[in-house]
Amino acid sequence: MDTVPCLRVSQHHAQQFRRLLQSNKCLDLNLRLLKDSANTVLLPILPSCLSQVDLPSLRTMVSSESVCEIVWRQVIKLKIGFTFSKQQNFNKLLLCLLMAHLQPPLQSKKRSGQAPFHKLEQMLQELVENGGEGWTEELRRDLPHSFQRHGDLILLGDNCFTLPQWNTFDGDLLWASVAKATGAKRLAKMSRISKDGFRSPIVTMLLGEHSWVTHVDNGIRYEFDVTKCMFSAGNITEKLRVSQFDCRGETVVDLYAGIGYFTLPYLVHAKARHVHACEWNPDALRALQKNLVTNRVSERCTIHPGDNRELHLNDIADRVNLGLIPSSEDGWPVACRLLKRTTGGFLHIHQNVTSSVPNTAAVPEDNDVTLRGKTADREAWQAWAHDTANRISCILGGITGAQWMVHIKHIEHVKSYAPHVHHIVLDLECRPRNDHPA
Ligand SMILES: C[S@@+](CC[C@H](N)C(=O)[O-])C[C@H]1O[C@@H](n2cnc3c(N)ncnc32)[C@H](O)[C@@H]1O
Repeated sequence: MDTVPCLRVSQHHAQQFRRLLQSNKCLDLNLRLLKDSANTVLLPILPSCLSQVDLPSLRTMVSSESVCEIVWRQVIKLKIGFTFSKQQNFNKLLLCLLMAHLQPPLQSKKRSGQAPFHKLEQMLQELVENGGEGWTEELRRDLPHSFQRHGDLILLGDNCFTLPQWNTFDGDLLWASVAKATGAKRLAKMSRISKDGFRSPIVTMLLGEHSWVTHVDNGIRYEFDVTKCMFSAGNITEKLRVSQFDCRGETVVDLYAGIGYFTLPYLVHAKARHVHACEWNPDALRALQKNLVTNRVSERCTIHPGDNRELHLNDIADRVNLGLIPSSEDGWPVACRLLKRTTGGFLHIHQNVTSSVPNTAAVPEDNDVTLRGKTADREAWQAWAHDTANRISCILGGITGAQWMVHIKHIEHVKSYAPHVHHIVLDLECRPRNDHPA
């Protein structure tokens, strides 16, 4: 039996912690979540990620009232095909429980046989074999290994069901089997992100009547048409962070509002006095309007349809959110125009930053390589942040004719796309230096 680290959290907040760990790729997806006591749950963490788990930040992002501690638990890993008699199995389990100091060990998803992938594999293998074909490793590799779940709809990625063999099956039967195995009622499949400037996914419905879905995050209901709008589940940490801001009395501008990913947390949780939401995609606008009404905040939001670079507002904002990746640079001049001239405010600038991979040739230890990689990443973020702060200061000076103090308040890591490509958010505090003309 191995021992694995787990995050012990209050059951009430478990889903939020789970999403945070998952979006940071720290959750061990091969192990099941476990109820630890009447009120606490264990979330298994990948041992290699343990050093990244920052308990105070997690607690700040979710709830200061939650239990949030690392504990170690033992995990049963029996070899597949290992045969025990019922009595032997029972004895072995008993022994495991005793070794784990009478705390139930975590169970491997593989072993429990409940993981959707195994169910899916079993069902499709049966389907293929019933059709007189042989089950191959190629087919197995072409199954979905992960997917997005939006309520009763499963959204498959573009890297599964690519083989022509699947087309020989009755589509209804095939998709009904996939839905059954994954516990869904509707199925859709993503092809790729289009390059029309809207970052809309090309999504096709495979099973089900309509394509509107509801996604509930942190008490906010997001409704959208999955074939028309993108939902970035990986941004949950940033949405939770925004929810912790205190924006009472503030006017906020969300330059890239989408369906309300950040507009809604600013209104619902951060309690902004008013949010101006800019968006140019008509499908996203439709969903945004609906979501403002559903979450009962529409009276505190003004929607500005169209290209935000043509926005006719200025000198109104205490805070501007620039949530566009890979870069929101096109929006920097607009954001600077929007900040209040006399008091300034905050800019939250999203960006994908790529760091150059460090030379690992002379490094003996794996851990050292990882450490050097992380250091290189952080140095790249810092360099980009300093450059951005200088450029924002120049833009503000050019617009207002005054000197500005631009401070890097925080750099938030949102998610990683590849080992050295990271989505980060830079918080800049911008204040006019009223004593110094430019
Ligand atoms: C990727 S979404 C961002 C959503 C959210 N910030 C997130 O990270 O999940 C960006 C949104 O900005 C909109 N957008 C991009 N450029 C724009 C522009 N110049 N004016 C208005 N909206 C724009 C797109 O239509 C899209 O809905």
